[in-house]
Amino acid sequence: MSTHTIIEKYQTTFSKHRELAQQANAIFPDGVTHDNRHTEPFPIYIDRAQGSKKWTVDEIELIDYWSGHGALLLGHSPPEIVAAVTQQMPHGTHYGACHALEVEWGSRVKELIPSAERIRFVNSGTEATLMAIRLARMHTGKSKFLKFAGHFHGWHDAVILGVNPPFETPVSGIPEGVIDTTVICPPNDIEAVEKALKSDPEIACVILEPTGASFGTIPTNGEFLRQLRQVTQDHGVVLIFDEVISGFRASPGGAQGYYNITPDLTTLAKILAGGLPGGAVAGKEELVNLISIKAEKSNARGKKMPHPGTFNANPLSAAAGIAMLKQVKTGIPHERVNRSAKMLREGLIEVIDQHKLDWAVYGEFSGVKILIGHGVDGLRAADFDPYSCDYRQLKGSSDAMLSMNLRCGMLLNGIDIASNGGMTMAAHTDDDVQQTVAAFDQTIGWMKADGLLS
Ligand SMILES: Cc1ncc(COP(=O)(O)O)c(C=O)c1O
Repeated sequence: MSTHTIIEKYQTTFSKHRELAQQANAIFPDGVTHDNRHTEPFPIYIDRAQGSKKWTVDEIELIDYWSGHGALLLGHSPPEIVAAVTQQMPHGTHYGACHALEVEWGSRVKELIPSAERIRFVNSGTEATLMAIRLARMHTGKSKFLKFAGHFHGWHDAVILGVNPPFETPVSGIPEGVIDTTVICPPNDIEAVEKALKSDPEIACVILEPTGASFGTIPTNGEFLRQLRQVTQDHGVVLIFDEVISGFRASPGGAQGYYNITPDLTTLAKILAGGLPGGAVAGKEELVNLISIKAEKSNARGKKMPHPGTFNANPLSAAAGIAMLKQVKTGIPHERVNRSAKMLREGLIEVIDQHKLDWAVYGEFSGVKILIGHGVDGLRAADFDPYSCDYRQLKGSSDAMLSMNLRCGMLLNGIDIASNGGMTMAAHTDDDVQQTVAAFDQTIGWMKADGLLS
């Protein structure tokens, strides 16, 4: 690596991918189909995946920490899910009718998620938060909702505000009326929440990621969740836990099961559908039943919430979801993912301190968060506490050049991880973790040789 920079080597090693990216650029904005897949100088293209690994179109093997954007808890193509989907396929992919699988899938959600008195299946996390906020508005007759800076709840109009720094800048294309109904508080600030709820009687609900913004990039804790439960109860405001990513991951019962705090509504997706598309809203009967035709009569405003949806509870997702939730119930995958994430965090922290960088690695459960540059002189990575760091710095403020080189260097070393971290799957082995730590060490060495780090 002494004569070629990381990016030059990436261009050569992944040249076939550059050709695909050029074709993709003529079809898709930025050549990608999800913002987070945008990679400079170009993304890599995957052909197949199994266990903890993915293989590129030119057969390069990679250890994966994207974990299907968090949808994969066990690993890629686990045999029990492959069998369930394969068995279902010839029986039909869409009945346009009720089916027994949706009943089993729903009853398994009910069994695992403490707040789930009633459930409605949707197709994604975005649809789930859209439904939950609307149900809260119907239930309370109020129009506003409160969210926290940095917390991600999908991309529909209301929730996409305040996700990325600078958190105050409105996203264009969102009507003023919607912006006016969105109240954004700093994360973990219970006084700000109390103040907002006291001064604004129009707030219908509070929504948050109960393991913190972007699965703990800006972490939160049980103490804050308990305070929030109390404050929302005191003000008659609906509390929504967005467990799209933490659900079935933080514990079999999600973050609410782990912390023993029950929200009024819960949004679910990702692991719920076993690696296939799917989502759900679960919660108090009186709230979720506003979808029922019976609400037409009982709701003071005399209307039910309309909810069609072509692919709601489609049989393939239901089959995959059932197979996944059977594994989730055992709690065994959680022990594995938490253990390997802890091992990985510890290994990466050691590398950072050996190289004397002002970087940090932190996280909880199966999360591994990488912060490139905290800017505090003499602070060892081993002593870094994300709660003592400004939340604005924790999310999205990394140096673009360092991020690109870290990402490309890790790929060249056989590791597919975002520059701000990833998630473990039960399929990750100790050997995978050791290889990842070695790749991190090697990449930082290359970045130093390229003059990007001192
Ligand atoms: C906490 C949270 N809520 C909502 C969403 C949106 O889910 P989807 O991508 O399925 O629309 C995500 C996706 O990453 C998420 O992590």
